[in-house]
Parts: sequence; structure tokens; C-alpha cells
Amino acid sequence: MDKRERERPRVVLGVSGGIAAYKACELLRRLTESGHDVRVVPTASALHFVGEATWSALSGNPAGTEVWESVHEVPHVRIGQGADLVVVAPATADMLAKAAHGLADDLLTNTLLTARCPVVFAPAMHTEMWEHPATQENVATLRRRGALVIEPAVGRLTGVDTGKGRLPDPAEIFAVCRRVLARGPRAAEQDLAGRHVVISAGGTREPLDPVRYLGNRSSGKQGYALARTAVARGARVTLVAGNTELPDPAGVDVIRIGTARQLHEAVVKAAAEADAVVMAAAVADFRPAAYTTGKIKKVEGQEPEPVALVRNPDILAEVSAERARRGQVVVGFAAETDDVLANGRAKLARKGCDLLVVNEVGEHKAFGSAENEAVILAADGSETPVPYGPKEDLAETVWDLVVPRLADTER
Ligand code: CTP
Repeated sequence: MDKRERERPRVVLGVSGGIAAYKACELLRRLTESGHDVRVVPTASALHFVGEATWSALSGNPAGTEVWESVHEVPHVRIGQGADLVVVAPATADMLAKAAHGLADDLLTNTLLTARCPVVFAPAMHTEMWEHPATQENVATLRRRGALVIEPAVGRLTGVDTGKGRLPDPAEIFAVCRRVLARGPRAAEQDLAGRHVVISAGGTREPLDPVRYLGNRSSGKQGYALARTAVARGARVTLVAGNTELPDPAGVDVIRIGTARQLHEAVVKAAAEADAVVMAAAVADFRPAAYTTGKIKKVEGQEPEPVALVRNPDILAEVSAERARRGQVVVGFAAETDDVLANGRAKLARKGCDLLVVNEVGEHKAFGSAENEAVILAADGSETPVPYGPKEDLAETVWDLVVPRLADTER
């Protein structure tokens, strides 16, 4: 094994026997493609859903279920001992029960007993099984012992039923794994517990007619990263999302909007009882003065009519004006193409918010990408540079700066 190989974080992906096992293939892909050394440990029941060949081909490692294979390597102890992270996805009700009670009758349950690294469970089951007091008590036991149990998503279950119990999106589980690996023990910090935060994300679209709109290139990824990290730190999160394709983050109250005026209404309403408001959305400053109910047609031999625009409300300035009275922390974003810092400082003063995250944007910068680089300017004059990296890291730094400012505010 060369040095680079040893430096790859070692992840054990436990897979228990649920129909959602097929989604764990995507999680596995994300983990391997982002440089993790993954060992899949399925249960025997999981192999009814996805075969061993798939797990070992995708991971590049053996994927046995039993402690009786390769016994000379003592796998029932070594796999858990050597892991930097164990993630069980999907975790069935049976798996949660075994883990809570310390049973060890196959390779995965042995691994869970020998692992000293962080453990993440992503449960998936029918709503009745999830809500059963036995499962709830097992989840509470696992959480008390320090395991991170992700709340299942709400939606279509196996067959025609819908409800709580769906495996969260693999991207969501991946983000949790990445966070746990990146933050270590700090991943468990609940420094936003008891706080309500409102985040806007994505971009607004201002319709011209039923088929056309004025829009922008915001993907929503930064706002969603803020929402996910706030939930992980214990906050109640309202995410006002404009025109993004991203799936709802687990445990977040998502309000979908289209236009700047809808965003304005939703943010102002939610902000009335929030501890912090973060405006990550790219809001259109202008909208067409008139909406044409039928599609605008071209007329042969005639130039098109110019489009008259009117101003949209400045939501950040409006929320900032209330922040002292409400004891809130308000954060804005500034997307700049030129004179980035000078424009940022002027904007911070103009908007009147506590913090302004200034980033440079351009055709290939920030928009749509999973990475970002920024400087966070504070009203007290401090500047916090955030190096180029995942949008999650920038989100964590925003909360790191929000938390001490919240301490001065009344709940
Ligand atoms: N913003 C807002 N309402 C608007 C426009 C922007 O709340 N009508 C918020 C954005 O969500 C962001 C911040 O204001 O947090 C700055 O957005 P930006 O587009 O950079 O600033 P503008 O005020 O539009 O300034 P300019 O276009 O002159 O750079």
C-alpha cells in the first residue's frame, strides 16, 4: 500500500436488507469518487437486493457478509478498528435493534462493536416500523451513545404507501459523512440548538409571459449547504428556495417560491420569529413592468418592443432594518465581478446586515459549482477569509461567526 493509499479516509459502508439498498450504490460511488477507501459490509439480507459482485466491483474491495471468510485476517475486528467512519445505509429496524443491543451475529454487527470511529445510521423502513416505540427507543439509545442517526425522509415508500421512512437522498447521506469526517468531534456540536434560522437559496425568476422569464444562474447549492449544516448543528431551519432542482434536505422546512416578490413575502413572514436570517438567494433586482398573459409573438418587419423594468423590494435591507429591534443576526451574500472587496464593504454598510459573505462570481466561478471561496465581512470591521473549498465549509464558517453573535440576543 503506497502512502497516498494509506492517507485515503477509510469508510465502512454497512448495508442492511431493505429495498433502498440500491441507493447505497450511489452513496458508494460518491464516496469512492471523492477519494475514500470504502469497504462495503452488507448483511446476508442486503444481498437479496443488491449482489456481492456489485459491491465489490464498485468499491474495489471484497464485500463479504460473514465472519468466517478470510478468517486469518480477523475481519470481524480489523474492519471496524481500522475505519475512520462507519455509515450504515440503509439501516433497517432490525439493524438498529441489533446495534442498540450490541448483538454481533454477522460481519456488520461485529464491525459496529469494534469501531471506535464516528458511526452514522441512515434508517429506511415503513412509517409504522419507524414510529414504533421499540425503534424509537433504539434510535434514542444509539444517539445517546454518540451515533449520528439521520432522520428518514418523507415520501414514497416501497409499494404505494407514502410517509416518513424513506432513505434520505444519497447526496444527503454523503454530505453527512463528509461533515463527520471533516469536523471530527465538532460534528456533534449542537450550538444552534433551540434557534430558528431562515435561509433563502437559489435564484428568482421574473416572468415576462407564460414561457419566458428574467432569471439568473444561481444553483441553490450554497443555501442548501447552509441549511444542511444548520440542521446538523441543531437549528430549526426554514429554507425559502427559488427555482432549484435540489432535493429537500432532511429535517428542513422548505418553502418553494418563484419570483422575488414571492421570496420577499415568504422571508419576511418566516423572519418574524427567527434568530438568524441568511440571504443566500440571488434575487432579481428588477422585474418586467408588465406581464403579458399570452406568449409575446414577433411581428414580421417590426423591431421588438423594449422591455420596461421596475425595481423589486430589497429583502436583505428590509430584514436588516428590523434586526436590532428583533435581536436577530442577519447575513447577506454579495456576488461581485469587479472590485470585489471594496464593493463588498460598501454593500455591507448599505444593507445594514451583521455579516456579508463576499464572493467573486463569473461564468465559471461559484455558480453551479460545489466549491466556493469568499471573504466574510462583519459590521464590527473584522474580515474572515474562507479558502477555496466545498460550499459546506463556507457554510460552517458562516455559522461559526453567527453563533457568538447570537449569544447576545434574547431568545
Ligand atoms: N438581495 C435582496 N433583495 C434584492 C436583491 C438582493 O435581499 N432585491 C440580497 C441578496 O440575497 C444578497 C444581497 O442582497 O444577500 C446582495 O445581493 P447582490 O445581488 O450582490 O446585491 P444588490 O443589492 O443587488 O446590489 P448590486 O446589484 O448593485 O451589486
